[in-house]
Amino acid sequence: MTADQPIGVFDSGVGGLTVLRALRDRLPGESLVYLGDTARLPYGTKSAAAVSAYALEAARALVEIGIKALVVADNTSSAHALEALRAAFPGLPVIGVVEPGAAAAGHASPTGRIVVIATESTVEAGIYPKAVLNGRPGARVVQQACPLFVSLAEEGMVDGPIVEQVARHYLAPLFLDPPAGERGDCLLLGCTHFPALVPMLRRLLGREVVIVDSASTTARAVEDLLDNRGLAAARGGAPAPICYLATDSPERFARVARVFVPWTIAPAEVGIAELGRE
Ligand code: DGL
Repeated sequence: MTADQPIGVFDSGVGGLTVLRALRDRLPGESLVYLGDTARLPYGTKSAAAVSAYALEAARALVEIGIKALVVADNTSSAHALEALRAAFPGLPVIGVVEPGAAAAGHASPTGRIVVIATESTVEAGIYPKAVLNGRPGARVVQQACPLFVSLAEEGMVDGPIVEQVARHYLAPLFLDPPAGERGDCLLLGCTHFPALVPMLRRLLGREVVIVDSASTTARAVEDLLDNRGLAAARGGAPAPICYLATDSPERFARVARVFVPWTIAPAEVGIAELGRE
């Protein structure tokens, strides 16, 4: 592994661009290769075994390109496949989004009443509560699957009455109208797509609820790891290149990307990765 190699960023689709964006903001000198497994999205409704198998195939494709570290931007893969990835690629630093996000929520929550929202499959894994409790024993962690948020964000619907209605459906019992003494004080976004909904969530939940997303804390964890292993690219100078790969339709990737990053990605910039071929 050398400092001039790119960092690989893997997600089930396009939402992981929220993590790519945080990496770009924090580490502009690092070359990035982003792989979105758009052909098999969503992972969030799939079994642990399927998610692990997909994640291993995606990681193998990135390793073949020659990455120096793997960032698993997908929460569902971070929940199910991190150990398998580390075992399959010994020596490759593999960073998931669950630990950094859980640690940040543990710090940020004023009273330790933390609500994690995620995909069904991530909720089933139960890894977020475990990770939060590691850093903050005594916290009260409640999980809520919010699968409709994924589809809405992919449609570019991140605000407005329909999205707000869905958010009320999921979150009112936990924040707006909870049993006495059980109101959450921290919302942990355990899914790549949810940062796009933050303005609406903030308006709905009010200023007292702290909203934590794992993208920026993951970028910090990546920076620390690269520094500790002597793998950081030279700082300063022009931003390094970003390469985009998808497993289906570059056009759809480029269109949906507009929801998640403020820069434009042209379909011609998106290469196709064929996964699952030995
Ligand atoms: N990337 C997924 C996650 O963060 C959300 C989309 C999906 O279900 O694949 O869990």
